[in-house]
Formats: sequence, structure tokens, C-alpha cells
Amino acid sequence: MSEEFIRVADITDIELNQSQSVELSGLDILICHTNNGIFAVEDKCSHADIPLCGGQIIDNFISCPVHGAVFDLTDGSVQSPPAFEDLKTYEVKIEGTSISVKKPVSE
Ligand code: FES
Repeated sequence: MSEEFIRVADITDIELNQSQSVELSGLDILICHTNNGIFAVEDKCSHADIPLCGGQIIDNFISCPVHGAVFDLTDGSVQSPPAFEDLKTYEVKIEGTSISVKKPVSE
């Protein structure tokens, strides 16, 4: 299976502790710029299927802007309720300031 990475954003366009939603293969993916690196997760809170974009990022954690569930961006794991399911994560490749995400395989 080919490992295709698609360029989705540039680091200079996303401030530290901010995120940007991009669309890739019909999926909304949130690119998060943290002080521990760049991470890509599905832009959909597992609590109520609402975008996580705009959620507060502290270190490598993001809190949902709606009800405050917290997720670890490094592995998508849920850290606090009301969400109970982890987020999908996507592999990221950085070249210079260019951010690429591994193309999701359709399920
Ligand atoms: S929609 Fe995210 S915690 Fe409820």
C-alpha cells in the first residue's frame, strides 16, 4: 500500500497553540500547532460529532469548545469526560515549514 502524504498547510499560517481545519479525502482534519510539535486529528469531537476547531490547546492537549472534553493530541486518547471515545489521529510529515498528512485510507 502506498504511503501518500498530502501537503495541507504551512506552519507559518498556524500560530502556536492554534489549529486549522483542512479537508483531506472528504474528511475534516484538524492540524494543531503545539509546543510539542504538529499533530493531526479528526476535527470532530467524539462526544457529539461537533468540530474541535477553536478548542483551547495547552501543551499537547486540546479541549472541546462545546462541553470541554480533553484529548491528548499525540495519540487522540480522551483524557476527560463528557467524551469517552478517542479521536482518530493522522500521521504528519514536516518538510521545512510545509505540513503534510498521510492520506487516510477509506474505511
Ligand atoms: S461536543 Fe465535545 S465535549 Fe461535547
